[in-house]
Amino acid sequence: VEELRPGEQGELTEQDWAELIDGEHEPFGPVGHSLEWRPKDRHVTFRDGDGRLVGAAGVLVATVQAGGEELPVVGVGSVIVTRTQRGRGLMPTLFERVRRLADDLGPDRAMLFCAPELVSLYERFGFVRIEAPVWADQPEGRIEMPEPSMWRPLRGGVSWPPGRVEVVGLPF
Ligand SMILES: CC(C)(COP(=O)(O)OP(=O)(O)OC[C@H]1O[C@@H](n2cnc3c(N)ncnc32)[C@H](O)[C@@H]1OP(=O)(O)O)[C@@H](O)C(=O)NCCC(=O)NCCS
Repeated sequence: VEELRPGEQGELTEQDWAELIDGEHEPFGPVGHSLEWRPKDRHVTFRDGDGRLVGAAGVLVATVQAGGEELPVVGVGSVIVTRTQRGRGLMPTLFERVRRLADDLGPDRAMLFCAPELVSLYERFGFVRIEAPVWADQPEGRIEMPEPSMWRPLRGGVSWPPGRVEVVGLPF
């Protein structure tokens, strides 16, 4: 199997996205495709021998309101492995690197949105379903997010407040 090079970078460029998606139709599914997402400002990546981007996961610091509290969270998103590289076990290394990046950012909690069929995948990396409704901005106004959301503690002794969650701004 071809050796891939791990790396880190800021925002993804259009060229980066073209390489990641590699012609696939709606890689994040129809629901993911229909929503507007916030660009992530830091990424962990994999590149192939030709320097092409074949895997990425992004993070940013976002604010959510939950249980009457305002919480900073590390929002995780833009998680994608190019279709030709899937199924060779890149996720554990990608997410180990996401966790290290997230640990350095400050917030006590990480949060993500995912397709229902990927909930059990993210549970392997310590994420837990948020059962309460989660609301976020879209260009036409605020909506209840139609996809599962999950969180994980980044330090010991941290819990998730009960009740409706309001993401300040676009989802990530
Ligand atoms: C999700 C994704 C990043 C996983 O990358 P990967 O390199 O294939 O991950 P791995 O090889 O480490 O394996 C991941 C596991 O998830 C499972 N998985 C991946 N996609 C799945 C899907 N759509 N439904 C159910 N299980 C899925 C794989 O079967 C594998 O399980 P296994 O370890 O029991 O064999 C990749 O499938 C992808 O880019 N998908 C399209 C974009 C996307 O949905 N991103 C997530 C947005 S939240």
